Amino acid sequence: MATAVIAQHSQPDLAGDVRAGLCRPGQKELPSKYLYDEIGSALFEVVSVLPEYGLTRADERLLQRHAADIVSRLKGQVLVAELGSGSGKKTRWLLEALARQQCTTYCPIEISPTALARCENELGRIECISIVGFERPYLDGLLAAAARRSENDHLLVLFLGSTIGNFDRDAAERFLTEVRRILFPGDALLLGTDLVKPLTQLLPAYDDPLGVTAAFNLNLLARINRELGADFDLRAFRHEARYNAAEQRVEMHLRSMRDQVVAIPRAGCTVSFSRGETIWTESSHKYRAEDISAMARRNGFRCDSQWIDTEWPFAESLLIAG
Ligand SMILES: C[S@@+](CC[C@H](N)C(=O)[O-])C[C@H]1O[C@@H](n2cnc3c(N)ncnc32)[C@H](O)[C@@H]1O
Repeated sequence: MATAVIAQHSQPDLAGDVRAGLCRPGQKELPSKYLYDEIGSALFEVVSVLPEYGLTRADERLLQRHAADIVSRLKGQVLVAELGSGSGKKTRWLLEALARQQCTTYCPIEISPTALARCENELGRIECISIVGFERPYLDGLLAAAARRSENDHLLVLFLGSTIGNFDRDAAERFLTEVRRILFPGDALLLGTDLVKPLTQLLPAYDDPLGVTAAFNLNLLARINRELGADFDLRAFRHEARYNAAEQRVEMHLRSMRDQVVAIPRAGCTVSFSRGETIWTESSHKYRAEDISAMARRNGFRCDSQWIDTEWPFAESLLIAG
């Protein structure tokens, strides 16, 4: 079916965000959205098939097993929008189930042009599905996708892979409120969330012995070298995954192995690191299944149904806008 890409609207400001995150006092930070350049998106695809990273397989098992049930709970004609689609591989199960009932438009929303192109390639030939991709940040893209709905369309928003876990808890609540604001009553949000689980199962998912997650994390510094002319010595930083029990999240950091100074010309700054200091690059918050329905209620949704994978505790929740 037809495929189109609507180009980017608001350009992410890598230089500004790097300056703000590294040139301030206290904990240095970089936004996780910058992990996904061409190399980062390719590395994430490898992470998602690692034996230690059960999250993607759990998400996919649930979608494969329950796609027909999920789709049967949607009302009328549906337009599908996916936030941060990545390669879109798992989404095939839902689109194929939907296509058995109706022809529909699927709008993947991605800031990574590489991920968006991969998604269009992966899903572009499903009978009865037209793809309109948006190379834009989440809400910007969702507004643009929602503007394409016709009078009788219900929107189905997909936010899979526990990407919501990358937001701090307060930011996740605000994000759901913003998504709800764009939806009409009766529209749906299918939310994939990784659940709290034993650390022996969880931590290796973020620190695999092959070092793929380490490469995914370190690539952020390599990206800053490539795009902002910085001189990070990648061998002088080490990947670290730690569990923050109070916040129920895994944090990824890059630890400086020595005192060093890094110039980042196109961000207009020079950054000093002391030995042992870290850059915080990503958080993955874990939820309890009951947290999700409560969070949905607080933000204008009701939890219609929930499917849970027991092998790798993970929940797929169908939230309906009230
Ligand atoms: C953890 S990956 C998940 C990909 C896929 N949904 C899955 O479940 O495997 C997050 C994806 O969201 C995209 N992303 C991150 N921040 C974004 C933002 N602010 N707006 C749009 N896409 C974003 C990334 O480029 C990446 O492809």
